[in-house]
Amino acid sequence: MQTPVSLFASTHAADQPVAALAQPPAAVVEDAPAVSVSDADQASVITSEVSVALADISGGLAELAIKASTCRLCGLSDTRTQVVFGVGNPNADLVFIGEAPGREEDARGEPFVGPAGQLLDRMLAAIGMDRNQVYIMNTIKCRPPNNRDPKADEVQACNLWFEQQLDLLQPKMICLLGRVAAQTVLGTDAPLGSLRERWHDYHGIPVWVTYHPAYLLRSPSQKQKSWQDLQAVVAGFQKLN
Ligand code: URA
Repeated sequence: MQTPVSLFASTHAADQPVAALAQPPAAVVEDAPAVSVSDADQASVITSEVSVALADISGGLAELAIKASTCRLCGLSDTRTQVVFGVGNPNADLVFIGEAPGREEDARGEPFVGPAGQLLDRMLAAIGMDRNQVYIMNTIKCRPPNNRDPKADEVQACNLWFEQQLDLLQPKMICLLGRVAAQTVLGTDAPLGSLRERWHDYHGIPVWVTYHPAYLLRSPSQKQKSWQDLQAVVAGFQKLN
């Protein structure tokens, strides 16, 4: 099976602006039906439908993001620039979870916006998706100094936000990116190779494990296996829907 060219492309379209979590996706606002003020009944029905939709999309997660933004539960709060909560579609069925913010994520406040994030965008494009159709987050929300692995106490502290975030998202499927995310979320110290190519469970949600895009940048020969993983995600996803 061939890997799509887009997964290997060295050039990459400029990052699309990604809807910040605290804001509803622009499309929801733009698609809001025009309200005729001359028809009071219809206007009130539409208004309440729109506000229910907005509350649904931005309510709980946005509030959680605001609470998390001032978190001081672990020492990473001393060195971070900002909390990197998550990004994408709050109603997404598919959630990608990475390890921790890196330098660029810490500076911009969004997960996966550096070189690994650009590869993740190309991986999503290869399966016909983009950032606005999925949700992207990390196991911990603050950058560990020098990009070291998160420590157990940091993961434990951040679990407060992590579990509530997934409770609110209620995805149908999770894809874990790399060893640290896989071991953290699945509560195992098994090597990544032994966790790939089979389904796992996180609180009733099917979970697939694949390589971290940063690893693929260092080891491009693994992209073929990564493509197989992505196809398994798509196949599993199609079965669910
Ligand atoms: N690597 C990760 O695991 N997460 C990010 O957000 C960026 C790089």
